[in-house]
Formats: sequence, C-alpha cells, structure tokens
Amino acid sequence: MAKDVKKRTCAELAERIEQLHAEIRRHDYLYYVLNQPKITDRQYDKLFAELKALEQANPQFITPDSPTQRVSGQPLEGFATVRHAVPMLSMDNTYNAEELKAFDERVAKGLGSEDYNYVVELKIDGVAISLRFEKGRLVTAATRGDGETGDDVTANVRTIKAIPLVLLSDGKIPDVLEVRGEVYMPTKVFVELNKQCEKTGKPLPANPRNVTAGSLKLLDARITAARNLSFFAYATGEISEPLAEEHYQTLQKFKKLGLPVNPNIKKAKGIDEVINICLSWSDRKQILDYQIDGMVIKVNRSDQRDILGATGRAPRWCISYKFPAEQAQTTVESIDVQVGKSGILTPVANLAPVQLAGTTVKRASLHNFDELNRLGVRCGDTVVIEKAGEIIPQVVEVKKQSRPAGAVPFRIPKQCPSCGGKVKKDEDGVYIRCLNNYCPAKVKEQIKYFAARDQLDIDGLGPAIIDQLVEKKLVVEPADLYKLTRQDLLGLERMGHKSADNLLQAIEKSKTRNLDRVIAGLGIQHVGVQIAEILANRFKHLGQLMQVSEEKLAEIDQIGPVIAKSIHDYFEKWIDRTKELLKYLNPQVEKTKVSSKLVGKTIVVTGTLENLTRQQAEQKIRQAGGKASGSVSKKTDFVLAGENPGSKLDKASKLGVKVINEKQFLKMIGTNIK
Ligand code: IVH
Repeated sequence: MAKDVKKRTCAELAERIEQLHAEIRRHDYLYYVLNQPKITDRQYDKLFAELKALEQANPQFITPDSPTQRVSGQPLEGFATVRHAVPMLSMDNTYNAEELKAFDERVAKGLGSEDYNYVVELKIDGVAISLRFEKGRLVTAATRGDGETGDDVTANVRTIKAIPLVLLSDGKIPDVLEVRGEVYMPTKVFVELNKQCEKTGKPLPANPRNVTAGSLKLLDARITAARNLSFFAYATGEISEPLAEEHYQTLQKFKKLGLPVNPNIKKAKGIDEVINICLSWSDRKQILDYQIDGMVIKVNRSDQRDILGATGRAPRWCISYKFPAEQAQTTVESIDVQVGKSGILTPVANLAPVQLAGTTVKRASLHNFDELNRLGVRCGDTVVIEKAGEIIPQVVEVKKQSRPAGAVPFRIPKQCPSCGGKVKKDEDGVYIRCLNNYCPAKVKEQIKYFAARDQLDIDGLGPAIIDQLVEKKLVVEPADLYKLTRQDLLGLERMGHKSADNLLQAIEKSKTRNLDRVIAGLGIQHVGVQIAEILANRFKHLGQLMQVSEEKLAEIDQIGPVIAKSIHDYFEKWIDRTKELLKYLNPQVEKTKVSSKLVGKTIVVTGTLENLTRQQAEQKIRQAGGKASGSVSKKTDFVLAGENPGSKLDKASKLGVKVINEKQFLKMIGTNIK
C-alpha cells in the first residue's frame, strides 16, 4: 500500500479518498439502515485501514466528515446550549385500550368527517436527540433539555456509527433538515458493560437508558465512542422543505438518506388495529435487542396533524401507550430489618438477583410488619415483584404453592436488631420503633439526614464516613460534627489529608446555613423542608421555637395539633442536644428573597429539574407567596415539570392545567440560576 501512496498523483489520491468515503458510507448504510451487510467486518476494516493510512500520509486530505473523524479533538470543558428551532414537545401517555379509544375519539372529533389513519411505532427507551443537517452534513446534535433548549452533544453523537455524518442522496436534500430520534444502547452492549463493571468492581449501571444519557453527557468523546450507542430516527424538526406529505413516507425517505428507522413500524386504519398492535408488542418486546417502554401512535398525514395542533407541551396527533408495570418472579433469600432515623424498623427482603424493567433487583422494601403479614412473606418464598412508577421494586404477591417445606413465618423483632434495645409499636400506628436514643443505626440515619443536600448540605460527608464516625463514637449527635478535628478524621479508613481538610471546610461552611435548613436538619417527625420554613419565618430564632407552647404552635396555619405535638415533644426530649448545637450554629432567616410574585397560586412540582431539587423549587414557590402542593387538581394553577415527570403531568394535561418548565418558572419568580 505504501508504494501505492507514492505512485499516485494528488488528483488520484483525492479521488481514491473520496471513493473510500463513499464506499464506507454505503456499507454503513447497508449495515445500519438496511440491516443487510454486503461485506464482512474484516473487509470493512480493510477499507477503513486503507483510508486511515492514506489520510495519515496526506493529512491535507482529511475532512471533518471523513468516516475516520468520528472522534476528534480534545475533551470538552462543558456543553454549549442549543435553542431548538422547533421545540421538542413531549407526549401524553395512555395505559389501556380505553384511553387509546378516548384518544381516537378526540382525533376523530378534531378532524370532523375526514378519513385518517395512524402509524404505530415502538417507543424506544433511550434518549431523544435532534440532529441538524445543513446541506446534507451533520452540523449539530442536541439533547431535548427542557424542550426549547438542549445541550450541544455533537462531539459525542458523531461517534455513533449508526448516525451518518453526511446524508446519502440520490437527488435533492433539503438545505436544512432536523431529524429527531432516539439514541439507545443495545441490550447486548449493556449486558457486556455490566460484566466489565462487575469485573473491575465499578458500580453497576442502572439501566440502558441511564447509561445512554450518561454517555451523551461525557466530556471525552473517546469514551462515548466505546459505548457503542445506536440510533433510530422517528420525526423531523425544522426542515426547509418537507420530505413527504405523510409520516410513513417521511420515514421511508429517512432510510434513503441513510438514517436508520426502526423496522417494526406499521400503518393502522382504525383504533382497534392500533390496540391489537400495541397489545401484541407488550409480551413480545423481549425479542428485541433494545429496550422499549411502550408504543407511539401517530396520525399519519401532516396536514391533519396541523389541524389537530398541540397543547402547551404535547401534540394532539400523537400519544404513547405505556406497557403495564413489568413483573418478575424471584425468591426471598433473607429478610433484614433496617432502623430509620426516627427508630422505625423496616423489613426489607433480600432477593435472588433478578432483571426487572432494565435493572437488576436484589432488594425490596416490605414497608412495615403489617404489610409483611398481609403478604405473608417468608424466607425461601417465591415472590412476584413489580416496579412502582418504574423505579422502586415492590413485592406484590407471594406464590404460596411454591413455598419450601419448613419455611417459617417471619418473627417480628422484640428488640432492636441494631442495638438490642427495647422496641414499641406506635399507638394507633403500624410502625414499630426502637426506643434507644443512642441506637447507632438511628444516629447514623439522623446524621445522614442532617448532612444531606436539603438540610445542612455538608459536601463529602457521605454514608461510609458517617458510619465510621458513629461506630467510633466520635459522633453521637449533630453538634459532634462541629467538634471533629483533623486528627479524628485522619483516623478513618481511606481518609487522606486532602479529604480531611476538605471535609472540615465543608463542615465549617455548613455553619452559615439558614434557620429553615437547620430546623429541617433536626429531623423532627412531620417537619420537612416546607414546615421548617414556616417555622423559621415565624420564629426567626431557634431559641424562640424551642420555648413556644404546643397550643401556640397548633394555631399556626399549616401546622395543626399533630405537628405541634411532635415539635413540642422533640424539644422536650432534645433540649440539651439543641442547645449544644446552638453553641456552633447561629442560624438566621433568609430575608431577601421573599416576594409576592406567586401569591394565590398553587403549583405542583414533578420530575427532575436541572438546577433545583424538588424541595428547593417548592421553597422558592413559598418564598414568592405561592403554595406548593403535592397533587394535581382543578385548583392547581401550574405544574412545574422537569425530566421524567410521570403521572402528575398526565393528570395536568387531562385537567387542562398549564405546564411550565424550569426556565419559565425561574423567569416567573425573577431568578436566574445560570
Ligand atoms: S415521536 C411529540 N416516536 O418518547 C413527540 N418519540 O415520552 C415526538 N420516543 O421524547 C416524539 N420512541 O424521546 C416518538 N417512535 C417514537 C419514540 C419516541 C421513543 C421518546 C422520545 C420522546 C418520548 C416521549
């Protein structure tokens, strides 16, 4: 080959390089779009190697869209923001045939007497991406973000071989073509990654979607390249001239342009046909080499889509059908009892590891002993588990017929499993609590809560360090954190000088937290961030709150007798502990931020926001005079929705409640985070 390189004239070289580009692109197309490779991997690698060698010897011929240039440049320092020319809307969800029929009725009504049909697609469980091609070349790739602006992840997306850097063309390509689709991690790639992590002792990735999202947000594209992500195109964004009048044809055009389209796409005439297709995939999805979490049903004709339009956040011409919660069977290997910060004993089932909706489940909370008895769970039992809200695994059923001989009922603990202390069932309640104030398990949880992000926010004080501090009896109550010395910290496992100093600094910094956070950090039963804020604004000093009578507390709006009693009982019991803490902290009320921008408004926060935790967002709502509520009703003025918003958003759109994103919210209250 080296000889060849020398013999060629410049023009010949350029021509050969151009030929190799075209050939490699054609084979990418045959492989990724048509799923019909015409050459072996080895032959493909040979073409690639030839191109690389030619480029190396003649770097003046390297172009950014050469197949060898998918990974280029240095790691990024951060991601720029991209404004989507056409917003990336979300989709309303349905969960059963009835809801699909209701959707169809709305479509029929919207279109009057016109005939219409649907396209039914798989709902790929990955990450939505918008690819912008200008004159056929990939110029930007952006995440959905809040729908209006996303992150510029072009460098990472260029490494995905299923995404062409240059569109194929047998004719005209629109000057501007934004293609939307899903980046995903094939299941076998995920399984392989899991194995590698297990071998190297790295934490196991939760599920393919999470790794995909994480991989797209890496600053070093070389690592993204190694993740072997893939892509399916399913929609257009901005486009200088439409590819077709119908969605189905658009998808066919996508393929011609070299964009992979999922092969399981079907046209359907009526809603019954749609329902049949949806149901048929519900138990066939395992055959696929990627995860799907439902189906997407779209009106086919684009003029009809225009007639139907969109609500604030979702088009009226499309809907998703979400599969029922996935279940799995496994066996209970043992039952642990955990002790929480208020001493509540919670039974937790240790399960034989089982795959459920994309994650390996090894544990499931049984909530309390009444629930454990209701289910009748015993060690050795075969149980059915399900993911509530697709996140937390629950035991929903015990297969009593498969119970092994000799399995005995679980004995409700008569003493605390951590300290051996006395336990007592709450009067009129379901919980059993450890009564020992110095129970190490309880103290650990109290300190973890005290140091957590929404309370004193002590950076670097993680569970492993807290466990050691409590076990060494260096910390028995929150005030002890402020007595820790460098020497104390250096005696802990895996604690170097630098980490010790950083931690001391973080502890020092926590002394400046406001009163509401300190009240919340005490861990008084029923006093979360919201109540803590009401108390802080009312009493201004912890010393004053400590002295107020139960009756006075109960009179306060939103407090009432139950919370009042809890606060009163806390200070009665922990007066010394609180005074000790006040030797180190002098928390003040945050004065400046109170405004009246949201007076009279009720707002529900749902999903994950980018800049604020849910508690922080709710705090801001209250600071602006609004009410933060946990559930959506007709009285809700807005729903503030972040990523993965779940059922509250569905309810909002059903009730016609306005939905706003984080940016709109921050603007509304006059705050700029970034
Ligand atoms: S169409 C207006 N088609 O589902 C929405 N989305 O829950 C246009 N998704 O953000 C999107 N597979 O990330 C469409 N075949 C498919 C899809 C799909 C997965 C994702 C997409 C979207 C999310 C909404």
